[in-house]
Amino acid sequence: MANDGLQHTATDLEERGGLALPPAAELRGRFCIQPHPNPTPETEWKQVMSELKFGTRFSDHMAVATWTSGTGWHDRQVRPFGPIELSPAAAVLHYGQEVFEGLKAYRHADGSVWTFRPAFNAARFNASARRMGLPELPVEDFVGSIVSVVQADERFVPRDPGTSLYLRPFMFASEPFLGVRPAREITYMMIASPVGPYFANGLAPVSIWVTRKYHRAGPGGTGAAKTGGNYASSLLPQEVAAERGFDQVCFLDAATNSNLEELGGMNVFIVRSDGRVQTPRLTGTILEGGTRSAIIRMLRDHGTPVTEETIAIDRLIADIATGDVVEMFACGTAAVVTPIGHLASDDFDVKLPQTEFTQTVYDRLVSIQNGLAPDPYGWTYRIV
Ligand code: COI
Repeated sequence: MANDGLQHTATDLEERGGLALPPAAELRGRFCIQPHPNPTPETEWKQVMSELKFGTRFSDHMAVATWTSGTGWHDRQVRPFGPIELSPAAAVLHYGQEVFEGLKAYRHADGSVWTFRPAFNAARFNASARRMGLPELPVEDFVGSIVSVVQADERFVPRDPGTSLYLRPFMFASEPFLGVRPAREITYMMIASPVGPYFANGLAPVSIWVTRKYHRAGPGGTGAAKTGGNYASSLLPQEVAAERGFDQVCFLDAATNSNLEELGGMNVFIVRSDGRVQTPRLTGTILEGGTRSAIIRMLRDHGTPVTEETIAIDRLIADIATGDVVEMFACGTAAVVTPIGHLASDDFDVKLPQTEFTQTVYDRLVSIQNGLAPDPYGWTYRIV
């Protein structure tokens, strides 16, 4: 069948992420709650909630569970947020065996609290875990930890547009052992942070430096897994981009150094003058973003063809120059949908002044997330 960009074939993650979840009331009992003896006082809480940045403040509780080979997952608890005790020999500190996720809890106008596609994130968490030699976590534990912490810390879910409670599930090799093999003791945790926009300038267009020197991931590597090493490898190139005055770095594929992959922690989209939309195809070296997936689905259902392709950077730059490409945007849970206004590298420097299409994509997505538009996909999941 010809790919007209309108046909949608679900990926494995989309299929597993589309499975129905038990309601929150059935999952809340999975984690044993140890309430915080000294929750954040009212005056401090007000201050925290009035100056929301990204990822700097945390709610009062966190979820923890332990996996040991032989026993499996046990000791599921929600306890006061705070430092953890970890052996200096814990394998994660030496070999980086860890995976994480990012999702958000949104306050709707009626005061209820919802999250977005938690089953997709649970499925990706487990796909990342398999790649990193970590045990899978039952989807009920993944979502149950979110439900338990968000219910305990409901007052940390902000109300203003563009704000949310960012949820960060992660698991790591906590076994004290210096040999190189998958750890036999793993810790799972879920922490929450009330947040404002990821970029300091909110929805203002960001500038991107395309690096030809560094790569984020290579064929057969861990690029499709949400694991710390991918983000660690983006830090130096990100610094290089920042030194040149750019907001973010963009990576090309390691095999040919010529095709667009993704930013340090976001997927990218291209809008063409004839209304078509393109995004780099999933090659195993880029992350299958939940926001990426939602945007593709929504655009196709609105009659906008979206193709997942190999996108050569040279052709892209030429097409921006001729006006064939009119907009680009980045997307991710943290960044939501952010226009790209400037793209440069050693051998090109182009501007993308338009943002209307990007704004429409943003509006459609956040309207569903915030309960302001119907959710025909069953993506929203009620927590409170
Ligand atoms: C997210 O979008 O949630 C991520 O994990 C990416 C990171 C840049 C914050």
